[in-house]
Amino acid sequence: MNVKLNFWVDLATFAGFLVAMEPRATGITIHEWFTVAAVGTLIVHFVLHWDWFMKLTSRFFVKLFHSSRLNYLLSILVFIGFISIMVSGLMISERVLPFFGLDVPARFAWRRIHDLASNLTLLLTAVHVALRWDWVVAAFTRILIDPFRKPRKIDPVLAEEDGI
Ligand code: HEM
Repeated sequence: MNVKLNFWVDLATFAGFLVAMEPRATGITIHEWFTVAAVGTLIVHFVLHWDWFMKLTSRFFVKLFHSSRLNYLLSILVFIGFISIMVSGLMISERVLPFFGLDVPARFAWRRIHDLASNLTLLLTAVHVALRWDWVVAAFTRILIDPFRKPRKIDPVLAEEDGI
């Protein structure tokens, strides 16, 4: 796995999510177009972690209690969460759908679902990141701190991923 690519994609995904959580700050037009465009970042994130996901799928029943198993289940919930946010977002869309000539009559339930799914998914994403905190710190140190330090140290958390 490419640590640098992963780090920047993860950071962009998380930062984008936080911006999406504040539609009143950005205005609804930016909120809608930005999140629809950001789906690309999410797809790259999923593709980059596909090997990890498949490896854990095959090992799922081997080791019963492990943080990676919890994160595996969490990542499925986060995935379902994003699908719910996007579908409910499109159902209440005031800009994107009308732009394509589609008009879905606004329904109160979709607004509630959009709000609830956003808040729950943010919470799940925070735990998802917290469970990989060792990786975040190691990648942060390597990419943003190590270049200013000499000589470079090989971090054991990242060495395995790089095949060192
Ligand atoms: C990661 C993706 C997204 C996140 C995290 C997100 C999050 C949110 C949040 C937190 C709100 C405020 C809810 C409230 O306080 O009532 C909101 C409102 C809204 N979102 Fe999203 N959203 C996302 C994607 C989308 C998409 C794709 C669309 C449509 C194309 C959309 C359309 C809307 C609309 C129209 C509102 C305003 C609802 C109102 O007027 O109360 N959202 N979104």
